[in-house]
Amino acid sequence: MAHPEPTYKQLLEKVKENLAPSLAEDWPELPAVRAEGIYLYTEDGRKIMDFTSGIGVTNLGHNHPKVLNAAIEQMKKFSHSAVGITLHEPLLRLTEILPKVMPEGMEMFFFGNSGSEAVEGAIKMARYVTERPGIIAFTGSFHGRTYGAISVTSVKSKYRSHYEPFVPGVYFADFANPFRCPIGNTAEDAVNWALESVEKIFNYYIPAEQVAAILVEPIQGEGGYIVPPPEFLQGLREICDQHGILLIFDEVQSGFGRSGEMFAAQTFGVRPDIMAIAKGIANGFPLSATVSNRKLMKSWSAGSHGTTFGGNPIACAAAIAVQQVFKEENILENTRKMGNIFIEGLKQIQKGKDFIGDVRGKGLMIAMEIVKPDRWKTPDAEKAMAILNHALENNLLAYMAGRTGNVIRFIPPLIVNEHEINQALEILEVSIAKT
Ligand SMILES: Cc1ncc(COP(=O)(O)O)c(C=O)c1O
Repeated sequence: MAHPEPTYKQLLEKVKENLAPSLAEDWPELPAVRAEGIYLYTEDGRKIMDFTSGIGVTNLGHNHPKVLNAAIEQMKKFSHSAVGITLHEPLLRLTEILPKVMPEGMEMFFFGNSGSEAVEGAIKMARYVTERPGIIAFTGSFHGRTYGAISVTSVKSKYRSHYEPFVPGVYFADFANPFRCPIGNTAEDAVNWALESVEKIFNYYIPAEQVAAILVEPIQGEGGYIVPPPEFLQGLREICDQHGILLIFDEVQSGFGRSGEMFAAQTFGVRPDIMAIAKGIANGFPLSATVSNRKLMKSWSAGSHGTTFGGNPIACAAAIAVQQVFKEENILENTRKMGNIFIEGLKQIQKGKDFIGDVRGKGLMIAMEIVKPDRWKTPDAEKAMAILNHALENNLLAYMAGRTGNVIRFIPPLIVNEHEINQALEILEVSIAKT
């Protein structure tokens, strides 16, 4: 007699037996069965405001009908063709569309599947074209989990533990964080401290002329949604120009509208040489890219990097639709407007509460840092988690960030409206009052 298929409920009960524990202990493991717009619907009948967007992926909301349709139409034609063996129309069209919205000069693409892969591509390309070994990354960075990507990641030692030795030639400088700068709390202090830490690497560890690239998230994501003063990124640009170093922006999380412009490079007005992009590119279909200008890309010679799944036709068709929706629905304008309302609301909530150390963000990449009210601004991850839990009980899903998890980050879909923002603020206010 055939065994009946296990039900969803039975599978959920067995999850710890079936999924690698390295992944499965993430919070809060909601049993979602359906999602639409800004809402997630769970197995037990709840409707939850999703202010995570699957960690910055479904920027146009879940199941956007135009993106979905584009994917379905492509699926009816074919769903895989390894780029290089065949060349499909969605990929070719996407390479025409994307340069129009990318930061200036970002015009040639190597398509992959994930953010980590885009970062791997950027590092490999930088070493290949400069013929230099060194890579400078930043404390608090997150660039992914594959070996190259984890080698330039330093947000938590836990992510690196037991994996040594890493890819060699990586040096860490300090990110410009005005909220936690050792020499003072002005933007200028933070910029000076961070840029000097880059110079220190040149003086003590590796000469500038042996450094291939400086790799930076223009807004640190997993590190705690840290928005640096623009002078930090401008300073990195100057250092790179001075020494023939390539500036790589990892915009895997800050890209595709999140910061209020299509990319944070445009928000800050700083030009990178190479970019890593992913997450929001196809609103949920796996796609990423390493991007650069033609001159540099053309020196990355044939056969020196490759992929089987990268540039998948369904994902490319979805990515084309994503760009249409950005234009037709004025997504960037909505992002800036809703971002301002949300941040203002959070600042109102912050008043008189010394445990809300900082409210910060750009566009709809927004965070609230929870601290103990002492002179060290000691991170209070326990309180942050209590607030997140209360909010979730009231059907608002947000997420944590930062080394200790004391930063509450809000990543709502960019289609969120004022009513929904106000609703989220009300839930938060109540949740904070209860903790
Ligand atoms: C800035 C940044 N880079 C790279 C990655 C890695 O992307 P993926 O998880 O798709 O490999 C992430 C993921 O959160 C990220 O935020």
